[in-house]
Amino acid sequence: MQSPEDLQDKTVLFGVTGGIAAYKAVEVVSALRRRGAEVMVVMTDAASELVSPLTFQTISANPVYTDMFAEPKQWNVEHIELAQRADLFAVVPATANIIAKIACGIADDFLSTTWLAFTGPRIIAPAMNANMWDNPVTQRNLRCLTGLGCEVIEPDRGRLASGAEGRGRLPEPGVITEEISSALHGDCSLSGYRILVTAGPTREYFDPVRYLSNPSSGKMGYALARAARERGAGVHLVSGPTDLSAPRGVQLHRVTSAEEMLERCRRLWPQTDALFMCAAVCDYRPARHSEQKIKKDEGQLGEMVRTPDIVTTLSEESGKRFILGFAAETDEVAGTERAVDKMRRKGMDMIALNPVGEARGFGMDANRVVLIDDEGSESLPEMHKLPLARGIVDRVVRVLSV
Ligand code: PMT
Repeated sequence: MQSPEDLQDKTVLFGVTGGIAAYKAVEVVSALRRRGAEVMVVMTDAASELVSPLTFQTISANPVYTDMFAEPKQWNVEHIELAQRADLFAVVPATANIIAKIACGIADDFLSTTWLAFTGPRIIAPAMNANMWDNPVTQRNLRCLTGLGCEVIEPDRGRLASGAEGRGRLPEPGVITEEISSALHGDCSLSGYRILVTAGPTREYFDPVRYLSNPSSGKMGYALARAARERGAGVHLVSGPTDLSAPRGVQLHRVTSAEEMLERCRRLWPQTDALFMCAAVCDYRPARHSEQKIKKDEGQLGEMVRTPDIVTTLSEESGKRFILGFAAETDEVAGTERAVDKMRRKGMDMIALNPVGEARGFGMDANRVVLIDDEGSESLPEMHKLPLARGIVDRVVRVLSV
């Protein structure tokens, strides 16, 4: 999936410390730049032994800061100026040493001094030997940092530089980049809300090997789940079959058919405050499911019957809960009227009219919607599904906080 350019107006202060995984940080800086961020790299002496500052300077297209007492790159107090400019401070990889220092407020080099002067959101990606990670002192320092609001991207388990197996590997650069992007867009506006999101297609089986479905990839629904999570909501994602993995912090429930999706949603509905119904649920299913593969010469596949309407069923039990539905329409002009009709008929508070076609909406990385509710409509132009989902959640937050 192509990455969005969602960091256009963001500045990231990017600390690199002396772990062998420092080379992977080059790829994270490169990915942040591709997404539009300005990246200012600060390295410790040990990191500079492992990867040349020139590499980071070239990739970030900015000077690299290493030495408190070097000839200044500009005439101001550099570590203070950097700390004031940045939207987020990330340390990748973070060694046990830097974790201990920043947990104690030690400021004895450029990186730790800038960290102490920084007041915005912080995120670290520890990487080290498994015994160092498991050491109670390291764990105590990490608890201290998370207690102070620093986000920790937990290391992966696997083969470490020493050849041993254990926890301590730096996660893949793509995972770290997504976490930094989420931290840059996060706030607490949905904190305390529990949101049920549905995504992907359903599959309605005729026999063990044939089914009725549609080309929904789940990208839009997964992006919505991630955007809600970024705003602090507790998110349950009920998903039909897709190739996607759950966004971090989102609880994923995999289902196959419309009946299963309804059953899982009904189970979760009493514990949730809002529903984002993005799944492309099949409207029909085979009346008869054969346990054996149906033979070609048996003729027709049989009769079709309607599946349950999930959003209507949940809205009948919704009380005051908020429901956002979608309307996938191939004819946008007639579609607006149909979307409004769907919103009223199915008991939704807001509907996202989604123009779809052969190369539109379904399966694509980009999408556009018109959000409609009783107050009017707002058109969100074509963009990557992640910023689009953030835009949809923005409007929901505005409605919920009225
Ligand atoms: O998954 P992607 O590839 O990213 O594509 C995203 C998408 C195009 C699938 C998505 O943005 C979208 O438009 N989802 C809704 C698709 C759809 O089923 O629309 P509809 O107009 O047929 O249904 C209207 C509403 O009723 C929808 O909220 C739908 O989830 C719901 N519904 C439909 C049938 C059914 N049996 N139960 C339902 O709850």
